[in-house]
Amino acid sequence: MAVKVKSREILQHIAAYPLGKSLQDIQSELGIVNIRNMSEIENVFGCSPSVKKQLMQRLDHLFTYPDGSARALSSKLADFLGVAQNQLFIGNGSDEIIRLLIRAFLNTTEEAIMADITFPRYKTNVSIEGGTPVIVPLKGGVHDLTAMLATITEKTKMIFVCNPNNPTGTIVNKDDLISFIEEVPEHILIVLDEAYYEYATSEEYLQSIPLLEKHANLVILRTFSKVYGLAGLRIGYGIMDSSILAELNKVKEVFNVNQLGQAAAMEAIMDQEFRKDCILRNERGRAYLEAELEKLGYTYFPTNANFMMIHIGKDGNEITQQLLAKGIMVKSGAVLGYPNSIRVTICSMEDNRYFIETLKNL
Ligand SMILES: Cc1ncc(COP(=O)(O)O)c(C=O)c1O
Repeated sequence: MAVKVKSREILQHIAAYPLGKSLQDIQSELGIVNIRNMSEIENVFGCSPSVKKQLMQRLDHLFTYPDGSARALSSKLADFLGVAQNQLFIGNGSDEIIRLLIRAFLNTTEEAIMADITFPRYKTNVSIEGGTPVIVPLKGGVHDLTAMLATITEKTKMIFVCNPNNPTGTIVNKDDLISFIEEVPEHILIVLDEAYYEYATSEEYLQSIPLLEKHANLVILRTFSKVYGLAGLRIGYGIMDSSILAELNKVKEVFNVNQLGQAAAMEAIMDQEFRKDCILRNERGRAYLEAELEKLGYTYFPTNANFMMIHIGKDGNEITQQLLAKGIMVKSGAVLGYPNSIRVTICSMEDNRYFIETLKNL
């Protein structure tokens, strides 16, 4: 039976996010057990063991609604970050906060500036809300802040800067970013997406929280999905002026963050040893991959995240399939805007070595 009800006009031009097949489906299709997953940018080392214990204790409370304001978590997180509790918005992943910011601040006549190529959810959500995405190409894989500034018009309401950038892993230089934030007019929201903040160990990386004091139009987004290994529980946070937060409260679901997520995040903050260990392992993996790729003559974008965009110089789809046949799943650059590259998650040393050996033999 043909459905005669049409969705909103704008949705005729928007595709659903391409989720792809699950690892289990791919394994059974190819008849390969234990495919090494170097494709998703999660924490391959899992989460802190103490989080698992804490979650077991919460199971008796599942019949209650979660705290819609996530007070206990935001209080703990505020102490940890050295900010006020009323500057912290806890979201169902930082993905939700991106959507809520756009929903709360962008009128349909207004524009939002973002890079190309970057995290695709900025553009999708701006379009869904009826605003206009204004795209500024990356320069050598890095946000071109000068060009972004030059793109500001009287219609600009928001600017997204993804730092480190997904999918390139690159960062913007801290002095450049400070000048940029100072130059953006105060009525424009700057959304600094720091989903991979913890992995950014370069001295050139900006510690952005102190800038909040002077720039009430700055919003910093972080997440428990990456280094804390809690992607499955959907929990992220935004640090911002309390007046911006008040607007987000008007458009959020009442119980947006589930109880297990809140409990897990609180426990995760307490286990900083786990976090440090993951960062160290990532650093070692990164140094190993960089050295080996250089020996093999491949170039890559300098990364400050837990993944690398490697330029293979051949069709990314083809290499992805060849690697899959050898039991390694990577992300083809072709679906990310880099047709001759692959995006590879930095994994355990064993997996990193297996990847390099396989690449050598392709
Ligand atoms: C740059 C960036 N921002 C935000 C997110 C969303 O993260 P989450 O919703 O899991 O907090 C991701 C996820 O991959 C990302 O890469």
